[in-house]
Amino acid sequence: MKNILLILGSPRDRASYSHQIGRRIVDDLKSRYPSAKVVVRNLAKEALPDVDDAFVTGRMLAPDKRRAAEAKALVLSDVLVAELMAADVIVLASPMHNFGVSAPVKKWIDQIARPGVTFSYSDKGPMGLVQGKKTVLVLARGGVYSEGPMMPYDFQEPYLRTVLGLIGMTDVEVVRIEGVAMGDEALRSAVTSAKAQADAVVRVIASGASVPVLAEAA
Ligand SMILES: Cc1cc2nc3c(=O)[nH]c(=O)nc-3n(C[C@H](O)[C@H](O)[C@H](O)COP(=O)(O)O)c2cc1C
Repeated sequence: MKNILLILGSPRDRASYSHQIGRRIVDDLKSRYPSAKVVVRNLAKEALPDVDDAFVTGRMLAPDKRRAAEAKALVLSDVLVAELMAADVIVLASPMHNFGVSAPVKKWIDQIARPGVTFSYSDKGPMGLVQGKKTVLVLARGGVYSEGPMMPYDFQEPYLRTVLGLIGMTDVEVVRIEGVAMGDEALRSAVTSAKAQADAVVRVIASGASVPVLAEAA
């Protein structure tokens, strides 16, 4: 393993459960692969720009056809795409905000889901160009969505699987930190379970296998 990319999507940084578990996974991977380079994108600390007119127009044009403002609007996006393409493992730490991903995570996706760059269209439909990656989604939620009555309201995990799948990132492991707003006991149990899930995911990655991780590994 040469490159690990950690995307941090919570405004709470050190207090964030998704960041804490995401960092645990990356630290564990780094201890197993000491020569691996770790790139961290802390999206709350370095806010990404909104999608604007120049970005929307420029992303549909070949680089030599872009006007100056359009070329400028795509500079950071090209850097983010290059980070993604270089990574062997991507750990995406994402809080649930209003049933979906946080705004910083959405902005990152807008920057890296690029026609002709990270996915292409063909007569068979879209094809992902970000191939051969291992992706770990670390999802923190106040409630419980993996089972029970709130399941239909989870627009975080299905959204991430769909949009990352579009660009080719289909080898996905999920670590859920659920029920953190449901009282002290639920919080303790959620964190204990998430740590066990995280450790299991690292073992899966280290073994080179792709098998489901038990949600109740605690
Ligand atoms: C703006 C906002 C919206 C939230 N929306 C939801 C929600 O729709 N469902 C839920 O279960 N928890 C919701 N929460 C709770 C967070 O998912 C929870 O605090 C989680 O731990 C956030 O992830 P983090 O610890 O990585 O920051 C929301 C929190 C905030 C700040």
